[in-house]
Amino acid sequence: MMCREDVAQVTEIDREAFPTLWPSVNYKRELQNRLAHYIVACDKGKTDEVAKVEAPSDRSFTGLASRVRRWFNHCRFFSNGLPSSGKEYIIGFAGFWIIAGEAHITSVSVRKLHRRQGIGELLLISVIELVMELNAHFITLEVRASNTAALNLYNKYGFTKTGLRRGYYTDNREDAVLMSIENIDTASFQTHFKRSKQAHFRKWGIALSQIAR
Ligand SMILES: CC(C)(COP(=O)(O)OP(=O)(O)OC[C@H]1O[C@@H](n2cnc3c(N)ncnc32)[C@H](O)[C@@H]1OP(=O)(O)O)[C@@H](O)C(=O)NCCC(=O)NCCS
Repeated sequence: MMCREDVAQVTEIDREAFPTLWPSVNYKRELQNRLAHYIVACDKGKTDEVAKVEAPSDRSFTGLASRVRRWFNHCRFFSNGLPSSGKEYIIGFAGFWIIAGEAHITSVSVRKLHRRQGIGELLLISVIELVMELNAHFITLEVRASNTAALNLYNKYGFTKTGLRRGYYTDNREDAVLMSIENIDTASFQTHFKRSKQAHFRKWGIALSQIAR
């Protein structure tokens, strides 16, 4: 089970990303939900307390690459009972539900200070891989029509628009764009996924062996 400290940080990231959504998701309860799966990206080099007051400083490629390596080395699931020190600094998380062989992505969120550094994409890659492992074949999600960052991210990984839910978001009545990958088993999706993943790992200097769960 996830420890309390993970829930607090994930909730904090969620609130930062979606301040107008109320009530916010109860992640403590989510972890008891057998349909739900969550992944967190951590910076093990920082404790929660230290990291909160530090902004990313070195924006050079080498600096970013080494930081990302460190974070992603500690990407792990928190839904499967792995122990957590409770001290790791969580920089992003992603979650999905699997119902009747279909995965529904509920969240991909990265702390504001750590965005545009490849974390969201790595979380999405991890989600897709986990969905494959769990033998689901279809992935769906909804995203705000104005959320260019997320739309681009999902487009990049082959999600296509399948519909629109008008006025879906209760805070501002914004439309939700429905997106999905119809069949993750097709050769075309697998090839595209593999290429995108390899390009991402190359870009950020991540070796496959460095991704730990
Ligand atoms: C969406 C989100 C998770 C992206 O995370 P991130 O770590 O900043 O994204 P990455 O650095 O991994 O970028 C991956 C891709 O996403 C897209 N992207 C990310 N930020 C973007 C931005 N500000 N503008 C345009 N495209 C963007 C790009 O396609 C990018 O690929 P590229 O670098 O080749 O251009 C992040 O912006 C976030 O947490 N937003 C708030 C929560 C949210 O809206 N989640 C999605 C709905 S559940």
